[in-house]
Amino acid sequence: MERKIKRIGVLTSGGDAPGMNAAVRAVVRTASSQGVQCVGIRRGWNGLISSDFTVLDSSSVSHIINKGGTMLYTARSQEFLNEAGRAKALNTCKLLGLDGIVAIGGDGTFRGALAISRQASECGMSLRVVGIPATIDNDIGCSHYTIGFDTACNTAIECIDKLRDTMQSHERCSVVEVMGRHAGYLALYVGIAIGATAVLIPEREVDFDRDIVEKIRRARLAGTTHYMVVVAEGAGSAMEIGERIHQEIGIDPRVTVLGHIQRGGSPTARDRETASRMGYEAVMALAEGAEHCIIAVQNGCLVRFEMEEALQMKKQFQMERYQILEALTNRMDHDY
Ligand code: F6P
Repeated sequence: MERKIKRIGVLTSGGDAPGMNAAVRAVVRTASSQGVQCVGIRRGWNGLISSDFTVLDSSSVSHIINKGGTMLYTARSQEFLNEAGRAKALNTCKLLGLDGIVAIGGDGTFRGALAISRQASECGMSLRVVGIPATIDNDIGCSHYTIGFDTACNTAIECIDKLRDTMQSHERCSVVEVMGRHAGYLALYVGIAIGATAVLIPEREVDFDRDIVEKIRRARLAGTTHYMVVVAEGAGSAMEIGERIHQEIGIDPRVTVLGHIQRGGSPTARDRETASRMGYEAVMALAEGAEHCIIAVQNGCLVRFEMEEALQMKKQFQMERYQILEALTNRMDHDY
């Protein structure tokens, strides 16, 4: 018979993502519905090391579902990477009587969760951990979706639509850098959605003539007089791409690095609803005895993956979406 959980911790870690608050809210409200107490751990794993926490009840998480950022703050913890740091964190878990932790974040967050759960077992403690994928990069191998991605896409699209207005008026070229760390999901989705002239992603080696010069040439032959180029930060620097366009094509682009604006904003319906479902599922997984798992989205449904197995999974490059992008940007009918 699984030991009933009585008290759990919840934390947010790594780069913040719109929808994290909705996930925290769902964890707290679901725990409350199951008669489980909840402790909010501030500033990611650092909060356990420095005993920075606050008891949360269902009222503590009112009016946050629509707020970007995270009420628990977030951080990347260097001290937690070593055993001594995790020992301090375990001491806090023991003092608080935590049976489990819900960790909301990315791969690094989950590796930390697995490490502390294992270290707890070595000390004769039981500390169950569940991960909720939350990053605007959408780069968690086991999950088709991560909280924050949809909101970040819509923020970038809104910004680039505004850029297009002025580029069209001045008949200019805009080079826009989007986030994504080492992944190109944001650039790929946003590029398709804004009708980009060209998109550079880290998953495809950049051939400047093929990927930029030819795309702009054909667009120009088709009568277009302004050009929108989207660059994933992992594929290169928009500034350098802009300078090269100036040197090799002779047009003088305007460069925009969207940066951290993509991390803010009120979460979209998709992020609020997905985060709420994931928060619920995480608490139920703990209550049903899951030791260490990640709540992932697979084809729109939530699944629980064993954490170690999940961390080994690699995401398949979305070649089909890239082929669609190529078809929509190649303008082959103007290749004379
Ligand atoms: O992982 C989310 C992310 O926004 C990446 O897209 C970006 O490269 C990174 O975080 C920026 O990190 P920081 O907020 O620490 O500058």
